[in-house]
Amino acid sequence: MRLLHRSPRLTLAGRIHATQNHLNLSLVRAASFASLGLREPSLVYNQGLIGGKWVDAKSGATISVFNPATREELGTIPEMGIEETKDAIDAAGEAFVTWSKTTAKHRHDILMKFYSLMKEHENDLARIMTLENGKTLAEAKGENAYSASFIEWFAEEAVRTYGEHIPSPISNSRNVVIKQPVGVVSILTPWNFPSAMITRKLGAALAAGCTTVIKPPPETPFSALALAELGKRAGVPDGVINIVTTQKNVNDVAKEMCENNSVKKVTFTGSTAVAKLLYKMAASTIKKVSIEAGGNTPFIVFDDADIDQAVEGAILCKFRGTGQTCICANRIYVQSNVYAEFASRLTERVAAFKVGNGLEAGITHGPLIHERAVEKVARHVNDAVQKGAQILIGGSRIDRPGTFFAPTVLSDVPSGTLINDEETFGPVAALTKFETEEEVIKLANDTKAGLAGYFYSRDVGRVWRVAEALEVGMVGSNTVALSQAVIPFGGIKESGIGREGGHGIEEYMNTKFIAFGGL
Ligand code: SIN
Repeated sequence: MRLLHRSPRLTLAGRIHATQNHLNLSLVRAASFASLGLREPSLVYNQGLIGGKWVDAKSGATISVFNPATREELGTIPEMGIEETKDAIDAAGEAFVTWSKTTAKHRHDILMKFYSLMKEHENDLARIMTLENGKTLAEAKGENAYSASFIEWFAEEAVRTYGEHIPSPISNSRNVVIKQPVGVVSILTPWNFPSAMITRKLGAALAAGCTTVIKPPPETPFSALALAELGKRAGVPDGVINIVTTQKNVNDVAKEMCENNSVKKVTFTGSTAVAKLLYKMAASTIKKVSIEAGGNTPFIVFDDADIDQAVEGAILCKFRGTGQTCICANRIYVQSNVYAEFASRLTERVAAFKVGNGLEAGITHGPLIHERAVEKVARHVNDAVQKGAQILIGGSRIDRPGTFFAPTVLSDVPSGTLINDEETFGPVAALTKFETEEEVIKLANDTKAGLAGYFYSRDVGRVWRVAEALEVGMVGSNTVALSQAVIPFGGIKESGIGREGGHGIEEYMNTKFIAFGGL
């Protein structure tokens, strides 16, 4: 029976279940994943998950998913719509009745099992991620470890959702505060971290006793579906994790996820433009909202910095995921005394990158996610060059199959460029010279975004001053290592609301005050 539910994934049973037309396509899909070294190809599902059942779109429509390193089709997923979204929300609502009543210890144990399964299957999960996102296998393994750490962290948080006793000013009364799960949570995630942006939300939701409807991005759905399968294997009951896949119907699906009365919280990571739309929709029923939107991260190198550390930091944080993270440095400000040295050392390091298919040994940086991403990066580079910037290395797309852009260093990027205004989301280090601390703080804060900021300096006074002056939610002072499950991750200004990781389980719980009177 179990196989029947799973039949249409990329297994022999799935291929038998398919229509004749579908059959040929399934064989191709199976070949794309199976021939690329998955130990357990059965982790690859090409259906959504609703109420514990793997399902197609009611219309039968599908979406193709491509490998950005080759532009070959990897497989298809269902093009779901409002009906399936309502079904998923209903399933989550039903499951909430029992899941919310389980003990925190029970949820802890299931999450720890989930964590262990993620570690056990790290090679396959990483390969799936590399195939659909393009990041290198090493990066994908790193993301899997990061992703699993959210499940582990929130397993540990589940058993510490303490309430409070507040001494009452009334003699025969007692004041108590308890925490309760909010209910059904809608989770909308981006393609740049196909796994970690899900577990950061899902771990907290499940630990709190909430149930979920997840809409993964159409570019990287297979990581989400594999995670859901591991959740099932860990003992997460049917209906607690639901996955709705969509591309063309995304507006309708997102609207339902944000406006449906049964949903009590919406959590989103992605662009600021989309965040604004979802925030408005969620306002219609005053839902709890957590948003991690775009950044425009400043990276500042003062002339008293350890330049080795600063170059290393810039390499790590600018080019992580080929520049496709919300906390990648977007604008790099270097004090004039050390500008030339920093620029030449950074360029030397970038020249040593090996760009290519992330599955191949020795590749340090993969492709961009799709053609639109390449076009945007090219537009930002061309705009900067037209306004006076110089290209020290890179500067154009790489002429090969796939969506590759050459790692680029731009020098003397003036203000008023697109790079100053928008997140580039690509492998472009944009350097600008500055003279004084006051000047650079003004430049760094001159943006609507406020997610992260980094700076390098060995002056203790300056370290405090700059850390306090940067208008962001997260600061890296002489480090770029912000990505940890234990910290409050999130931004200010137009970069978001709420914090994830750290004590983020609070965002999935209601605070209830109870006065016990007449004692
Ligand atoms: C993001 O790019 O949105 C998240 C980055 C991270 O968690 O490190």
